[in-house]
Amino acid sequence: MSETQAADQRQQKIAAAAYAVDTFIQSGMHIGLGSGSTSELFVEELGRRASRGDFQNLLTVSTSEKVTALAQTFGLTVVPLDDVTFLDVTIDGADEIDPVTFGLTKGRGGALLREKMVAAASKLEVIIADYSKLVTRLGEKWPIPVEIVPFGWHHTAGRLRSLGCDPILRIHNEKPYMTDGGNYVLDCRFSPLEDPLGMAPLIKNTVGVVEHGLFIGVAGRIVIAAPGQVYEVQRPAL
Ligand code: A5P
Repeated sequence: MSETQAADQRQQKIAAAAYAVDTFIQSGMHIGLGSGSTSELFVEELGRRASRGDFQNLLTVSTSEKVTALAQTFGLTVVPLDDVTFLDVTIDGADEIDPVTFGLTKGRGGALLREKMVAAASKLEVIIADYSKLVTRLGEKWPIPVEIVPFGWHHTAGRLRSLGCDPILRIHNEKPYMTDGGNYVLDCRFSPLEDPLGMAPLIKNTVGVVEHGLFIGVAGRIVIAAPGQVYEVQRPAL
C-alpha cells in the first residue's frame, strides 16, 4: 500500500469513528470499546468529545489492555466487564465484512475472545471499517484467527487441520504471540468459506480451542467509510 493509500485509509477510519460517536453515543451509556486501529480512533474521538463536555457519565469496558490504557489516557472511565450487567453499545472494527450476511472475521489484533465476550454483553454491536474490509466470502483475504490454550497446541492444530485449513502459530518477537488471556493464536487459512455458519461450531467444538474469529450474527449495524462518504449497510432480514 502506498503512503497516499494508507493516509486515505486512515481518513476513512477517522470518518467511520466520528460517525459512530455522532450516531450511537449518548450521555450515561455503558460502552464497549473494541480493539484494533479503527477502534482506537473511535476511543480517541470519544475521549476528546467527552472531555470537552459533549457526554457525561460514560462507563466503558475495554476488549484489550492496549485499549484500556488508551481510553484512560483520554480520561475515559474503564471498568471490568463484571462491573456492568450489560452494555448499551459496543463499537468495534473487523478484518473482513460480508455485507450480505453481516458475517465478520476478527482477531488480527489478537483480542477476539474479549471482543466476543463484550459483544455478547452488548445490546447493540456496531462495526466500523473502511471499505477495504468488504469481502464476498469470509476468509477471502485473511486467515481465521483461532485462540487456543498453549498446552498441547500441536494436537489442537492437527485437529483444526482436519477441518480443511492450514493453521499457522502466530509469532511475535520470535516467540508465540500471547493474547491478553495468556493463550496462543493459530491463524487458520481456509479456502474462502462457503458456509461460515456451519464451520463456526466445528472450530468452537475442537478440543483445545478457546474461541475463534468468526463473528456470525453478532453485528447489529455496520458503518463503512469509502472515499467521500460514510454509510450504514442494511442488516438483511432474518
Ligand atoms: C482485534 O483483535 C481485531 O478484531 C480488530 O477489531 C480487527 O483486527 C480490525 O482491526 P483494524 O481496525 O486495525 O483493521
